[in-house]
Amino acid sequence: MACEVKIPLGERSYSIWIGAGVLHRLAELGQGLRGMVVTDAHVAAIYGDRVRTALGPDWAQAVLPPGESTKCAAEWSGLLERMAEARLDRNAVVVALGGGVVGDLAGFAAASYMRGIRFVQLPTSLLAMVDSSVGGKTGINLAAGKNLAGAFHQPMAVLADLESLATLPPREFAAGMAEVIKYGAALDEAFLAWLEANAPAVRAQEPAALERMVARCCELKAAVVARDEREGGLRAVLNFGHTLGHAIEKTSGYGTVLHGEAVALGMAYALELSAEMRGLPAEEVERVTALLRTFGLPAAPSGEWSWDRLKAAMTVDKKSAGGRARFVLAGRLGAAELPAAVSDAELEAAWKRWCAHGVGE
Ligand code: NAD
Ligand code: GLY
Repeated sequence: MACEVKIPLGERSYSIWIGAGVLHRLAELGQGLRGMVVTDAHVAAIYGDRVRTALGPDWAQAVLPPGESTKCAAEWSGLLERMAEARLDRNAVVVALGGGVVGDLAGFAAASYMRGIRFVQLPTSLLAMVDSSVGGKTGINLAAGKNLAGAFHQPMAVLADLESLATLPPREFAAGMAEVIKYGAALDEAFLAWLEANAPAVRAQEPAALERMVARCCELKAAVVARDEREGGLRAVLNFGHTLGHAIEKTSGYGTVLHGEAVALGMAYALELSAEMRGLPAEEVERVTALLRTFGLPAAPSGEWSWDRLKAAMTVDKKSAGGRARFVLAGRLGAAELPAAVSDAELEAAWKRWCAHGVGE
């Protein structure tokens, strides 16, 4: 059982293969090629040998420390040095084996080494399968903010082997569900309803439910990326929940709150703003936050946050403009709009509204 979702981008077009066991395609894909497998220590311990066996002994390997703090300039430049030491040339290929951290960092190294070499994404986390491995955004965090250095660089192919989700820690699976729910809330209300109806099958990781869910997310992302590859406009709707989400990640110290958890919290807040500014009904806000909680995600503000620090972080984010935070909002679920600048008074009103539902841990 496997399915293919195509990303139609002219000469940069590629396929995402989704299903149990699709990793076997790597042997065929890597035939006659040489390069470097980039992974992290957790993933290397479980899948490293399988991938090296599929590719053969000529491939170099870089194993990085797991976690968000690896997505930094020091690891990126270290990786470039290792690629040079391994004598990778312009025909070499980088294989990114792991979650979004490895995919973003290895993709950025591939984009910058010798002004750009090819790369393949082998996403092993749910978040990477449904979001980060698809669409060509690569990059690293700077001290000043999340993903502030990077490049658009499309992979040659994406192989999302659903069998690898069996070893993903439950907290990481939940984090991936935040991006899944984002697609429904922002782009496809029918998919949101499907998630509500199929939550038990998804939580039990039933193969058919997982395949359908991952494929739908990739189809939704493919449709957006095909129309706006470099985020000139439409692609920004995929940042639903990310304005406050990135600020939470930054102010709590990268890696403390997982990216997916921060997106869940950011979405809950963006829904309150949407209620305030676009008249999104309160029941629809509750519908999404209930789904987040169903999958074990946080949806309430933490009593430990400083609202002033969060506000300051939101104004240096890539998505801000002229010192005002910008948010993707939705007047109805599945119909997210291009980002809008939000005034301090509107930010405050939505914050109070959100806190009024109760504060989480
Ligand atoms: P991650 O890469 O840190 O992976 C999560 C954890 O799970 C890590 O400890 C990893 O070692 C482990 N892991 C991964 N697969 C595993 C498996 N099959 N079995 C056991 N352990 C496994 O985090 P993530 O959630 O995958 O990705 C988050 C990153 O993705 C963030 O940096 C975020 O900014 C980025 N992102 C990028 C895009 C994009 O378009 N490029 C989109 C969304 C998110
Ligand atoms: N995760 C947002 C994007 O790929 O555009």
